Amino acid sequence: MEVTKEDLKNSSSHLNDAETAVEIIDQTKLPNREVYMDLTKKEEMYDAIKTLAVRGAPAIGIFAGYSMYVLALGKKNEDKETFINEMRTDGEYLISSRPTAVNLSWAVKRQLSLIEKNRDKSVAELVTLLHDESIAIHKEDIEMCYRIGEYGLTLVKPGDGILTHCNAGPLATSKYGTATAPVFLGKERGIDFHVFSDETRPLLQGARLTSYELQKAGIDVTLICDNMASIVMKQGKVQAVFVGCDRIAANGDFANKIGTSGVAILAKYYGIPFYTLGPRSTIDMNCPTGDDIVIEQRNPDEIKTMWYKEPMALNEVKCYNPSFDVTDHSLVTAIVTDKGIVRPPFDVNLKKIMSEV
Ligand code: MRU
Repeated sequence: MEVTKEDLKNSSSHLNDAETAVEIIDQTKLPNREVYMDLTKKEEMYDAIKTLAVRGAPAIGIFAGYSMYVLALGKKNEDKETFINEMRTDGEYLISSRPTAVNLSWAVKRQLSLIEKNRDKSVAELVTLLHDESIAIHKEDIEMCYRIGEYGLTLVKPGDGILTHCNAGPLATSKYGTATAPVFLGKERGIDFHVFSDETRPLLQGARLTSYELQKAGIDVTLICDNMASIVMKQGKVQAVFVGCDRIAANGDFANKIGTSGVAILAKYYGIPFYTLGPRSTIDMNCPTGDDIVIEQRNPDEIKTMWYKEPMALNEVKCYNPSFDVTDHSLVTAIVTDKGIVRPPFDVNLKKIMSEV
């Protein structure tokens, strides 16, 4: 497939026309308002990730790649040592905004190692290299999602019901998404599926983002509350579960939006294949098992007050709000990557796929 300028421009984060800022669609305002923001300062970038204005593991990676370039542009008149030291500090600062998705640190480290490898070049040349690398990261993501879609399509039949959780669509990546890639690619090829989108408490990514994207693309989608997944599975309406991932450990355990592991347990009970789909940049071979994944804890107000006219719990009620959970590899039928479908034993087969060029 060929990635066009339009593809880049239509993604949830990209460079503005002057190539001086990262432009994002503010995902916190969707689906009611399409608000765009241009970001140039590291604090704005940090907040955009923290508040989920930009979200979804690969999209955070793309955003981080662009952010590193834009921050470098702001330092173009500095001497080289100061430039390199400040880029390192800024990179660490961006990485500290959210702990779970590996794509964030992956993209920042990719940009920092580019600087390291080219230390002999001038600051102006380094800025240009960072620019080109950020575009490369973005293009690669579109190509990877396309390939994930190709592999994913081999796992389902026309007309199948597919259940998904959270948002692993174009807004969370670019163009095809990961978990949604087979559905979008299928649509391009005249193959239709029926998607059940879990609303995904507490931040409602499934309602606000997934059902919005699919509906707008003319894909048959039905929104359900998270606690309705069991009934649609029991009624035989779901032939496969496709979800995204924020970090895949070396043994095949993976972190994804809170509630994913419950969906996997249900799928096992009903004998429905359960797949996670993600690019190889989401696989963290330095992370042995799911127990080693740091799970982000978020503000209790997201549960108690955020979407309501009045608080839905007493102020003093204790609240636990982990943003992700870990699905055990024993519940995963296969991991669909841009390099192919990985089946158990995951510890052996993930190693193989990660060693391919
Ligand atoms: O907290 P979020 O909205 O960033 O969580 C997103 C998810 O859990 C996605 O499923 C995951 O990042 C994969 S996106 C292709």
